[in-house]
Amino acid sequence: MSFYYLIYSSIPTRALADQELDELLHVARTANSEHGTTGMLLCFNELYIQLIEGDESKIRQLYNNLRVDGRHYQVEILREGKINQRFFPDWSMAFERKDEPPAMKEASFDLFTEKSISLLSILDPTNKPT
Ligand SMILES: Cc1cc2nc3c(=O)[nH]c(=O)nc-3n(C[C@H](O)[C@H](O)[C@H](O)COP(=O)(O)O)c2cc1C
Repeated sequence: MSFYYLIYSSIPTRALADQELDELLHVARTANSEHGTTGMLLCFNELYIQLIEGDESKIRQLYNNLRVDGRHYQVEILREGKINQRFFPDWSMAFERKDEPPAMKEASFDLFTEKSISLLSILDPTNKPT
């Protein structure tokens, strides 16, 4: 079975409030589950990096929606291609955000770092997808 993956970066138009972010994730996860799409969204203060993967036509369709979404701009593809295995098979949209409350900071930063590294390592041009 072959899948398609796409990683893009973009700049948030403005910082989303927690409730807006929850809503975005809820809608994204529901739609992704319906379409068999999985992936990961990293949310830095001024940068989104998202990997989406699944059926090629679904991924292209989602990317077309994403490109015109007013919540971010300068949407640019970093890497895309065919893969035999998903990178994040268990996640309708894994999410990590760096600006957690101070009490959460250490633990969440570790998780953030771990997930960032796993996503960013996919971007390493010497790291060929399988
Ligand atoms: C940073 C960011 C990430 C998003 N991720 C997803 C996603 O994984 N899946 C999804 O369906 N929509 C996602 N969206 C929303 C889409 O841009 C778009 O609103 C949605 O696909 C519209 O679907 P509709 O036209 O069917 O209502 C995301 C939006 C933003 C700003």
